[in-house]
Amino acid sequence: MKIKKAIFPVAGLGTRFLPATKAQPKEMLPLLDKPIIQYGVEEAAESGIEQMIFVTAQGKHSIENHFDSAAELEKILEEKGKTELLEKVRASSNLGKFVYVRQKQPPMGLGHAVLMAEELIPEDYFAVILPDDVMNCETPCLKQMNEVFEKVNGGIIAVEKTDEAGQERYGIVKVEPTDNPKLHKIVDIVEKPGSQNAPSNLAVMGRYILPKKIFEILKKTERGAGGEIQLTDAIKELLKTENFYAYEYSGERLDAGEVAGYIKAQVKLALQREDTRGEIEEFISSIKIEK
Ligand code: G1P
Repeated sequence: MKIKKAIFPVAGLGTRFLPATKAQPKEMLPLLDKPIIQYGVEEAAESGIEQMIFVTAQGKHSIENHFDSAAELEKILEEKGKTELLEKVRASSNLGKFVYVRQKQPPMGLGHAVLMAEELIPEDYFAVILPDDVMNCETPCLKQMNEVFEKVNGGIIAVEKTDEAGQERYGIVKVEPTDNPKLHKIVDIVEKPGSQNAPSNLAVMGRYILPKKIFEILKKTERGAGGEIQLTDAIKELLKTENFYAYEYSGERLDAGEVAGYIKAQVKLALQREDTRGEIEEFISSIKIEK
């Protein structure tokens, strides 16, 4: 079975970036010359996802516009013969079929956001992509997960080894080994347990392949960590009846969801790109900090 639909929860308030996100969605902040959200959508498209389902909210219209065509702009670029720019502008509207579901503010947590898309998912399994987590992988992260999904019967969560700070900040899984050293069977999952209570050092990164049965569970899930309806809590409940696997993907995750991580992501991506690498390398080595 191929995964064809992905849910992108984009209804969050972007508080970590205030005041920059007072009047614009954090998902539209640029990483080099593309908005953060485009990285997740490109990854999905390259992984075989055909329908991108955005759980959106008030003030997020620019996301819809970004993935739509822009007739006037395209006409001007065409007339001026700016073919390369025209291609870049058109690329974002050709990444799949876009569907929008509106979530009322204030947001009630990731689990609640995912539940908003229930009616759009008759399929047995679907993907969830958290766009703050920009996956910097040679083979797109979700594609790697899809390949594993075809071999196992169950949900898959992308994980990465973390430290004590990560155990405070992420969902953490307790696992048992499988034949594949990168693939673990999940026996428990806890949201932001902290280093004292963390069952391992494997942290959940924002890519999931989930069974649609999760919707029934989410309807009954009560507010958990941070007073929010947590996807993690619903997965924990589902572990009683469903198989879930944690997959240590190849590549790295850039955290574009907070200021320092966002700057690191800019630098990393700029160093990877030919047209910016030289200048940025030179700039970094020339920086002198005066205290
Ligand atoms: C969410 C999930 C958490 C996961 C994290 C990855 O947390 O609830 O389990 O580890 O994404 O980025 P949030 O960043 O929304 O607090």
